[in-house]
Amino acid sequence: MNRISMNSRRAFLKQISGAAMVAGMAPSILTWARAQEQVIPFPNEDGMILRSFRFIDLESPVEYFNSFLTPVPRFFVRNHMHEPSELDAAAWRLEVGGEVEKPLTLSLAELSKLGTHSVINTLECAGNGRSLQRPQVPGIQWGKGAVGTARFSGPRLGDVLQRAGVKPTGKHVMFRGRDEVPGKVPPFIRSIPIEKALDGDTLIATHMNGSPLTKHHGFPARALVPGWIGAASCKWLTEIKVLDAEFVGNFMSPGYRFPNHPVNPGDAVKPEETHPLTALTVKSMISGPSDGASLKARQIAVHGTAWAGEADIAKVEISTDGGIHWNAAKLGHEQAHYAWRLWSYEWKPVKAGDYTIQSRATDSSGRVQPSTAVWNPSGYLYNAIDEVKVHVS
Ligand code: MTE
Repeated sequence: MNRISMNSRRAFLKQISGAAMVAGMAPSILTWARAQEQVIPFPNEDGMILRSFRFIDLESPVEYFNSFLTPVPRFFVRNHMHEPSELDAAAWRLEVGGEVEKPLTLSLAELSKLGTHSVINTLECAGNGRSLQRPQVPGIQWGKGAVGTARFSGPRLGDVLQRAGVKPTGKHVMFRGRDEVPGKVPPFIRSIPIEKALDGDTLIATHMNGSPLTKHHGFPARALVPGWIGAASCKWLTEIKVLDAEFVGNFMSPGYRFPNHPVNPGDAVKPEETHPLTALTVKSMISGPSDGASLKARQIAVHGTAWAGEADIAKVEISTDGGIHWNAAKLGHEQAHYAWRLWSYEWKPVKAGDYTIQSRATDSSGRVQPSTAVWNPSGYLYNAIDEVKVHVS
C-alpha cells in the first residue's frame, strides 16, 4: 500500500517520547503529540489527484465536495517545497519579534494557554482552476479541486501579538514556514496587513476538524487567515515578525500578485502594475452530476458548493439552456461567515439529449460569478461560471 510516514517511524516515536517528558506540558498537548504516533496514510489512497510529487501537491476530485466540512484526508495539499522532515512537538518554538515591545518565544504548551477559537473557513489556493485559463499559463495545472472547508482552531493571532505589544510602527505581520528549501529557492515567507492580523478570526491554528493538524497541513501550527487566498495561511509556522511595511520577497512579489487593470489574455504585465492578492472572489462549483455523465433519471439532483472569501453567498442559480434561463438553487442550512454554502437543485429535463449544466453564484457584496474569468499571467482567482456536460437518455 502506498504510505508515507511523518519521518521514519522509529525517529518519530523517539520525538514523541521526548515530547512526553517535557515538564509541565498540558495534557491536551500530550494527547495531541500521541495522536501523531501513527503512520499517516498518503491521501492519494483516498483518491486524491496527484498534481506534483516533487513537492506534494494533491487535489480533491470535485465529487468529494458534498459535505460542509471536508474530511482531512480529502483536503487538498499545496506545497511550494519539501515538507519539514523533523517535526518535534516538544522542541517546536514560535518566535515573535520585530516591531514589538516584548519579543516572545512560545512553546506549544505556552501557545495552547492563550485560548482556543474556532473558525470554519473555505481555504482555496489562488491557483485553483488555473488549467482552465485560456490562453494557458505556467504553474501547477490545478483543475477545480484545490479548495476545501475545515474547522480550524487555535489561539487568536491578535492575542499573541497583544502579549508581545505591537509598536505603533507595526504595519504588517510576516510569517515564516519551516519548509525544507531546495537549492536557491527562497524560503516561504509572506506578510499580511496588521488590520487583518488583529482580526479576531485570524488564528494560529493547531487543529483542523477537531484533530491536531497533520503534517501535510502544517503540524504543529499554521497561520489561518480566513477568507484570503490559501498562500496567506503559512504552514509549519516558526516565526512571526511585525514589520513596518509589507514583506519584500518572492512569495509577495512576483508571486501572488494580480494586475491592477484588465489585460489582454496572453499579455505580459509590469510588476509595478500589480498588487498582492488578498481575499478570495465569488465562485460556485458543480460537484454532481459529474462532467460527462450519462443520466437516465427524470429528476436529476444537481448539487455543489459556493463561496466568496470575506463575503457571504447570496444566491446560486442554475441554467441548463446555455444561460438563457437561470433558476435559483436551494442553499444548504449549514453556514459560517468564511465557509462555502452547499446548494442543490432538482432538475427535470423535458426531453433526452446533450446538456450543459451551469452554476452561477452571487455574493452579499453584489459580485456575480462572470462567464469568463479575468485572465492574468499566473492564472490566479479563476472563477468563471462552472459547467458540466451531461447526456440525458
Ligand atoms: N506554508 C508553507 N510554509 N509552505 C507552503 O508551501 N503553501 C501555501 C499555504 N501555506 C505553503 C504554505 C499555499 S499556496 C496554500 S494554497 C495553502 O498553504 C494550502 O494549504 P493546505 O496544504 O493545508 O491545503
